[in-house]
Amino acid sequence: MASTVVLKVTIMVVMCTFLSIRMGNADLSCPQVLFTVAPCLSYLRGSGGEVPSLCCYGVNILNNEASNTPDRQEACRCLKVVVQNLPGLNLTALAALPANCGVNLPFKITPSIDCNK
Ligand SMILES: *[C@@H]1O[C@H](CO)[C@@H](O)[C@H](O)[C@H]1NC(C)=O
Repeated sequence: MASTVVLKVTIMVVMCTFLSIRMGNADLSCPQVLFTVAPCLSYLRGSGGEVPSLCCYGVNILNNEASNTPDRQEACRCLKVVVQNLPGLNLTALAALPANCGVNLPFKITPSIDCNK
């Protein structure tokens, strides 16, 4: 089970690397985004409780890095791929994650997120 997740994340990193090569210009690459939010995954597959501090740290980095529109859109597309491909994520916990970390992300992370804003 755990190894399936690792495999999936690895595949996504490869996919994202490919995508970011194609999309080019943004500073914040998809693999970077994935590694940044990786500590959040076990929390998001669980049933709540404290958000791990490493996870909040990642959310903070993401928020700081995604300060301009191309970076924000890139991070958004990347997160969308993750959210749509990892089964068993607690979407309630996911949507509430930035707020629980005291971060006001410019977008709400959901599977149907619109990344063109
Ligand atoms: C999802 O997360 C919320 C908030 O952390 C929690 O209250 C809820 O019990 C969780 N749902 C499941 C199915 O684990």
